[in-house]
Amino acid sequence: MTQVCLRNIELSYENTRVLSDVNLTIDAGQFCVFIGPSGCGKSSLLRLIAGLEPVSGGSIEIDGVVINDTPPAERNLAMVFQSYALYPHMTVFDNMAFGLQRKGLPGAEIDRRVAEASQILQLDALLARKPGVLSGGQRQRVAIGRAIVKQPKVFLFDEPLSNLDASLRAQTRFEIAKLHRKVASASMIYVTHDQVEAMTLAEQVVLLRPAAEARGGSSVAQVGTPMALYHHPANLFAARFIGSPGMNLFAATVATLADAAVVLDFEGQPCSALVTPAGLAPGQAVTLGIRPEHVVLGQGPWRATVIHIEALGELSHVHLKFSDQQPILVAKTQNEAIRVGDTLPFGFPPTALHLFDAEGMARRRLARV
Ligand SMILES: Nc1ncnc2c1ncn2[C@@H]1O[C@H](COP(=O)(O)OP(=O)(O)OP(=O)(O)O)[C@@H](O)[C@H]1O
Ligand SMILES: [Mg+2]
Repeated sequence: MTQVCLRNIELSYENTRVLSDVNLTIDAGQFCVFIGPSGCGKSSLLRLIAGLEPVSGGSIEIDGVVINDTPPAERNLAMVFQSYALYPHMTVFDNMAFGLQRKGLPGAEIDRRVAEASQILQLDALLARKPGVLSGGQRQRVAIGRAIVKQPKVFLFDEPLSNLDASLRAQTRFEIAKLHRKVASASMIYVTHDQVEAMTLAEQVVLLRPAAEARGGSSVAQVGTPMALYHHPANLFAARFIGSPGMNLFAATVATLADAAVVLDFEGQPCSALVTPAGLAPGQAVTLGIRPEHVVLGQGPWRATVIHIEALGELSHVHLKFSDQQPILVAKTQNEAIRVGDTLPFGFPPTALHLFDAEGMARRRLARV
């Protein structure tokens, strides 16, 4: 069982700071997903852990031992890349066996490990084939198999599913989740910018905030379980990033404070949010947030006009305009009778609201729908 610990990690390429002050613990056996927008340094962080890139500052520890200067081959990690990087002239079996043969493992042990990986990944019927005659999903499974046979303490995955079509992605996601259950002692660190992968696979999500917003290198915006990030985003960046469509965010003013609630003035009407009032004062400008699935259409103190509808089958995303000064409101609904041009009342349940102060930091929610 292996714990990975990152302390005050800094990474710069020449004059460009990519990562700043990254502190993280990935517990033994944990499935940890790094997520964040393109270019925020997710792959770089993975490469630092793998030893393919030196840190510019800070330390990487495995089970309490600093491994900053340990060569990649001695770190007991296995990395799976987005581009499968298989040897085209070798069979599936040889692709998986090659690294072990080079290490000089006995043939019987190699056969046993490849057979086990092949069984986990359902590659038995393909062992004699070459990569050129495999589908993308099958190739990706071989790349994962090559990592499994190494029996690493930590698996590193860099967007392993992004070359696959939607149904194969869902299927391979399932394979990776099963793999995690089977080799429960190995930690998995998985990079993606796909929040469905993050939400469905992770025990811990690490959301990275890109340099532009963090000034001088990406840093960690929030760490937590998928549900913690979804229901309790710590700041506006997390609120915007997690959820699809994203959280509705509107300008509001603090009207009055209660023990366990803040009453806002939102578009001239009182609007109560069940969040801790600490640090707020009447008259302050704040941002209120509500997820599209929590907007109540058909009743409430405000009125909006439907300007666009995206019907997805199981539900629709309804876009509504209610003010020139506020963004468009997006609501999820199963009501198929709503039409573009309709004017509807709408409301926000107090238990569904999020509240962010002028610095973009969330006030703790005291109840939730
Ligand atoms: N070898 C390098 N030299 C200089 N800059 C680099 C190098 N590798 C990466 N970068 C820069 O570092 C930043 C982070 O890159 P990285 O590949 O880690 O991002 P990412 O989060 O994995 O993005 P994506 O989701 O697109 O894969 C980017 O601005 C990139 O241009
Ligand atoms: Mg990347």
